Amino acid sequence: MDKFIPLAKPNILDKDIALVVEVLKSGMLVQGKYVSELEKTFTDLLSAKHASALSNGTATLHLALKALDIKAGDEVIVPAFSYMATANVVELVGAKPVFVDIDIKTFNIDITKIEAAITSKTKAIIPVHEFGLACDIEAIMSIAKKHKLFVIEDAACALGAKYNNKHVGTFGEFGSFSLHPRKAISSGEGGVLITNNNSYDKKIKLLRNHGTEIIDGKMDFTEFGFNYRITDFQAALVVSQMDRLQKSIEYKNELALIYNKELDQKKLQLPFTPFYTSHTWQTYHVIVDPSVNRDELIIKLKESNIGVNYGAQCMPFMQSFKQKYNYDCEKLFPNALLAYKHGLALPIYDLVTKEQIKYITTTLNKILS
Ligand SMILES: Cc1ncc(COP(=O)(O)O)c(C=O)c1O
Repeated sequence: MDKFIPLAKPNILDKDIALVVEVLKSGMLVQGKYVSELEKTFTDLLSAKHASALSNGTATLHLALKALDIKAGDEVIVPAFSYMATANVVELVGAKPVFVDIDIKTFNIDITKIEAAITSKTKAIIPVHEFGLACDIEAIMSIAKKHKLFVIEDAACALGAKYNNKHVGTFGEFGSFSLHPRKAISSGEGGVLITNNNSYDKKIKLLRNHGTEIIDGKMDFTEFGFNYRITDFQAALVVSQMDRLQKSIEYKNELALIYNKELDQKKLQLPFTPFYTSHTWQTYHVIVDPSVNRDELIIKLKESNIGVNYGAQCMPFMQSFKQKYNYDCEKLFPNALLAYKHGLALPIYDLVTKEQIKYITTTLNKILS
């Protein structure tokens, strides 16, 4: 294969570009009709009451914590394995992220370890639907109910994923989605925050726009807010792509089946999909046997024109958290550390062909044999 296969590539069609150009020519670049249309496509798809389109998926998590008034002195439970945004936002509101190890088969939070992490300071859980696979959200909702905790679902990678036929992002107080280019639908940068609660929704829409309200016909500012607005041309880019989300998920499932069938499992642990969910395959993530040098494998695959990388971080193992808390990650979060040190994300997206997937499996099997 003489052409490089990138790890990810967004699928932007001419019709998407035409709609963006239309918005650019209109002169209405921020908070125009496509922001509202984007929010409606999300509420329709997810059968949710409210959606707020924001500047990125980190902003959605941040505002969810702000709206729930989570602050210094509070603790928030997060999985130890995710993208850093999940835990960074907790630090940024002054609260403490309390890490819980993951289940190494699903890469999602280990629900059997959550209750031991709850203290009198715990206010919320942020479960992640990692790599597009729903976590055991009903079990998490029962724990949250028992201990009176809020749930913010980090569904950054999981648009379209369902748990027992109900869309993820609609179980907790909030559901947070990212529109970054490595996600199924992208606006470049962007995010959507879902809630079924009217007063939370009002608060989010104020916080994203510096607390701006019209009072007695005059603009006033009723909250200390942010500028977390998305532009209208980014929103148009998303609106134009939404009609092919389902097809994209189906295609990625076909690609995943080829990986599942063709990859030699002697030195690779393949992803597992529990009965209660279907996978949306934002990432096809395997664990490479620790006897193999994963980083050398990444280099060898790149030399064979295959773009791969590790999948996500063991967050407490990263410098920012190490310096502050100095956790013994090997002891406390062995699965998150294993997934971080030996995980490998393989290409899976609309623009990669089945022939390319077969080339990847043959090449990987050969290197590992
Ligand atoms: C699990 C998870 N949470 C949050 C985010 C943050 O989203 P964004 O990059 O849009 O800020 C990401 C982004 O990759 C993610 O993977």
